[in-house]
Amino acid sequence: MTAARGLEGIVATTSSISSIIDDTLTYVGYDIDDLTENATFEEVIYLLWHLELPNKAQLQELKQQLADNMELPQEVIESFKTYPIDKVHPMAALRTAVSALGLYDDEADLMDKEANYRKAIRLQAKMPAIVATFARVRKGLEPVAPRKDLGFAENFLYMLKGEMPDQIEIEAMDKALVLHADHELNASTFTARVCVATLSDVYSGVTAAIGALKGPLHGGANEQVMKMLTEIGTADKAEEYVLEKLNNKEKIMGFGHRVYRQGDPRAKHLREMSKRLTEITGEPEWYDISVKVEEAFTSQKPLPPNVDFYSASVYHSLGIDHDLFTPIFAVSRVSGWLAHILEQYENNRLIRPRAEYTGPGKRNYVPVDER
Ligand code: CMC
Repeated sequence: MTAARGLEGIVATTSSISSIIDDTLTYVGYDIDDLTENATFEEVIYLLWHLELPNKAQLQELKQQLADNMELPQEVIESFKTYPIDKVHPMAALRTAVSALGLYDDEADLMDKEANYRKAIRLQAKMPAIVATFARVRKGLEPVAPRKDLGFAENFLYMLKGEMPDQIEIEAMDKALVLHADHELNASTFTARVCVATLSDVYSGVTAAIGALKGPLHGGANEQVMKMLTEIGTADKAEEYVLEKLNNKEKIMGFGHRVYRQGDPRAKHLREMSKRLTEITGEPEWYDISVKVEEAFTSQKPLPPNVDFYSASVYHSLGIDHDLFTPIFAVSRVSGWLAHILEQYENNRLIRPRAEYTGPGKRNYVPVDER
């Protein structure tokens, strides 16, 4: 038995949800470029869960179900006040709150298809409320209740900021949600599938996935990118910064990918959005620094930017706290996790690979006072 490090190149499951072929990402056959230009996030959720785009009535029904399920149990809101709020990362809070949500769902351990779908709706609907409510509570602000008349992206920004976002902000958030919704067998999705393949419940699967997304090699990269842009400060310092990091054999966050070779097809959309939004906010330096980092990095390594690189300056331009960038990724990616969880249940087999053993050979126990 020989291990494939990091499971590179291993095909671990079949799936009808999304594919990456020749650097093209599709959701159920639709090119991500097409969906980003034309679809709303709610349409994408439906697509991932039903494997078809919704008609008008189906879309309206899903929107209604999401709007009806956004409010959090009061116990979950109250529990935020018990967290060590000035120290806790919002991803840790999100992971804990999603786990806690399961405690207040009477159907948490019901495993029939309909109950699992109802839980998918609840989780998808409540994730933005968790992120937004925690973000406000930690600043001593009152939570803002979701509004049933608002779309998903709009409601999220409204709950986060406590005021109505403008159209440009809504569109940018909606596009970012579409772009992050699913990504074949990425680390967090694989984590979710491994978890529920034991026939554990939906809440456990999503909680596990949030833990995997949190790491800087996965979703946590977007926050690290903003940290780097802030450290660099001005575009003229970007090249020196990048070269020094590479000299020290450090990674530059937001570049490279396990699967893509020529480039991440999502990055160009975020690059365009970053340019537009940073101009609108009167802070074009964030885009300018990003471009200089990209130029300096790619002149040294043939690794193009991934989804996390330009999303950092996009979220910053939307006035979002930097440590909320990865939770936003989760608010979107939960749609993909849930699609994969439902798919896993449909055709389940325990996921249990093997390890190539590299420890000592067989030996005999030695009593503790003889060691
Ligand atoms: N900066 C510098 N060098 C890099 C980078 C980078 N961002 N990415 C890869 N490399 C180098 C790496 O040092 C290694 O070099 P060598 O062969 O000389 O040791 C080589 O490229 C292969 O890297 P790897 O880490 O073995 O590649 P991987 O396929 O295991 O990792 C990755 C993929 C995304 C984890 C990696 O490219 C990386 O760490 N990037 C930075 C973190 C990041 O942006 N993550 C977000 C990923 S995309 C969105 C998501 O899924 O969340």
